[in-house]
Amino acid sequence: MSYTRHYSVLKQECIGNLTDNAVVGEVSYFADLTFGGGGHSFELLYTNPLFQVRSTDQDPDALRNGEARIAEEKMSSRIKLFNTNFVRFPGIAKEECPEVFEADGFQGILLDLGVSSHHFDEAGRGFSFRFEGPLDMRMNHKSDAFLTAEEIVNTYSEEQLMKIFSEYGEEKFSKKIAVKICEERKIKPVTTTKELENIIFHCYPKEMRYGKTNPSTRVFQALRLEVNRELEVLTDTITHLIPLLKIGGRLAIISFHSLEDRIVKNLFKEASQSQDFPVEILTKKPIVPGEEEIFNNSRSRSAKLRVLERISVKKEKNKYKQDFR
Ligand SMILES: C[S@@+](CC[C@H](N)C(=O)[O-])C[C@H]1O[C@@H](n2cnc3c(N)ncnc32)[C@H](O)[C@@H]1O
Repeated sequence: MSYTRHYSVLKQECIGNLTDNAVVGEVSYFADLTFGGGGHSFELLYTNPLFQVRSTDQDPDALRNGEARIAEEKMSSRIKLFNTNFVRFPGIAKEECPEVFEADGFQGILLDLGVSSHHFDEAGRGFSFRFEGPLDMRMNHKSDAFLTAEEIVNTYSEEQLMKIFSEYGEEKFSKKIAVKICEERKIKPVTTTKELENIIFHCYPKEMRYGKTNPSTRVFQALRLEVNRELEVLTDTITHLIPLLKIGGRLAIISFHSLEDRIVKNLFKEASQSQDFPVEILTKKPIVPGEEEIFNNSRSRSAKLRVLERISVKKEKNKYKQDFR
């Protein structure tokens, strides 16, 4: 099965921010925890021959494709790819990458969240309503650790379904869709993408069925977030990545959903108020793609990049400022 080419979002902005503080003439280590098609990882490798990359992905297709590309480009001495959910990376990094901590830690860590074009284009993975396929949606489809979309659709209560459709998908007709799914599954379990699409389509008022956005978009997105527990995993990861950075090292996160961006923004703010591992937020407002990038890759339109830097000591706020007003 071939791997669909993935267009890397905000590539130059990420590479620029991650590598800004790298010391010229020294080896620098980077972690790309969402390897995908390897676009960001390889760009780091091309930028400087002294850059080393440690990557993770939980998708077997991405890993297989990645290993083949690493061999093809003869980069195996400069990049290591780990088969794991990135939530486990802080726990395994010291053991798996001791060389990085001998060099005081990572110069940069990147998370480019969500799924890749490959997921949407591969009918058998069940991420897209464009093709008939099984309702799966697990990024790691070889593991039983996560429920499939089919299991969720056929076992969650009407209230649970309504909650995820409205919270994760901001779907206006979440109640109607949840009620209809529960009716339909009494007759026969809902097992394919097209069966689910058909149910959702008929829950939409006639005049809204052929709009710019397919009626299934929001429910499919909500199910994907629920299947892969994407928000939970993100929340459990961010704070633990900061101690892996060297002083001056940067953490860059690209999100594609307002709920994800809120988590990144809030956890960055919390980190900036903590004294344990002082950090400075470098993006008061998130970096977003320009018109040209959006024109070339419409998926990039919702991307938001936030960056923080680990610093040695917290800058004191000017406590005299008030006195001299
Ligand atoms: C948006 S794509 C990354 C694309 C990549 N930056 C590129 O330029 O090719 C996200 C990738 O991260 C992986 N991924 C998402 N969440 C993950 C997690 N919690 N742990 C490990 N990999 C994850 C997905 O399987 C997917 O391959």
